[in-house]
Amino acid sequence: MSLSELDHTNKRVLMFGGKGGVGKTTCSATTALHYASAGRKTLIISSDLTPSLSDIFEMEVGATEKPVKGVENLYALEISPDEVMKRWKEKFGPEVYEAASSLIDMDYDEIIDYVAIAPGIQEEFMLDYILERVKDGRYDLIVWDTAPAGDTLRLLDLPYKFLKHLRMAPKFYFEVRDTFKLKKAPFLDLIDSWKALAQEVTDFVRNPNNTEFILVTIPEALGVYQARRLVGEFERYGLDIHYLIINNVIKNPDCDFHRARKEMQTPYINLLADEYGQTMEIITLPLFAHEVKGVDRLRELRKVLFG
Ligand SMILES: Nc1ncnc2c1ncn2[C@@H]1O[C@H](COP(=O)(O)OP(=O)(O)OP(=O)(O)O)[C@@H](O)[C@H]1O
Ligand SMILES: [Mg+2]
Repeated sequence: MSLSELDHTNKRVLMFGGKGGVGKTTCSATTALHYASAGRKTLIISSDLTPSLSDIFEMEVGATEKPVKGVENLYALEISPDEVMKRWKEKFGPEVYEAASSLIDMDYDEIIDYVAIAPGIQEEFMLDYILERVKDGRYDLIVWDTAPAGDTLRLLDLPYKFLKHLRMAPKFYFEVRDTFKLKKAPFLDLIDSWKALAQEVTDFVRNPNNTEFILVTIPEALGVYQARRLVGEFERYGLDIHYLIINNVIKNPDCDFHRARKEMQTPYINLLADEYGQTMEIITLPLFAHEVKGVDRLRELRKVLFG
């Protein structure tokens, strides 16, 4: 089994998720390299707290899109939550201030800082950023190396939390308006335009023609629990996961240590196969003696991941 099934689809965004340290960045980078090498203009984005693309591509990636050395068609971007917040403020700050300042007598920074901590704002911005790049055709494909599991779930919570937040806002607005006997209602226009934006981005993510989510896990108890949790969360939102990568698998043990490890892993691999074999493409990746770092190693891994 391999990820090459994806070759026959025309997905625009591939998201990799799973618990910390299981190989999300490794698999994202390999996939991005695969499609870039196949001629699709590809952007890999990491929105993690700790920069990791710089390590794996052995170059300074950073917060602006840069070509990856030695791989045609491949661009990379590492964007931290702080940077996301900064750009959100740049993009939406003036609009928010204009709307809100007619209601409350607060400084620009105070208002913007307050609104910027609303639930889902960060994820909203990331999705908006990605969508912008997909829609204007700047890239054929975006590979998104998401932060460890919790954040992916938060992303799915976004429409609910965000719309709930928005529903509260008019109430607050009307109270303020009545208290201060104001006439203008710019805040409601702003809320409407946000609602439309939130709807657009979540529709895009939920549309299986556009987006695929690939779950990465390891054959250990924690890996299995985490996979179950994620699959369950996705189900709750009416989303299916079609690809499961089981990483760090011992294939041919030649010493007692590795035989014991393989024995530990096998029941978990079987469990995952029982539970998801019918509905998902399951790909097992061997544990390598070396870390996966540098374009040459990624090319080796590409052969394993894509057959
Ligand atoms: N199959 C493998 N064999 C050997 N080493 C591996 C394998 N897969 C990943 N690694 C190594 O394991 C480490 C963690 O992998 P990676 O950074 O891809 O995980 P991650 O899920 O992105 O972690 P984080 O949650 O911290 O972002 C890296 O040093 C990587 O080189
Ligand atoms: Mg990572």
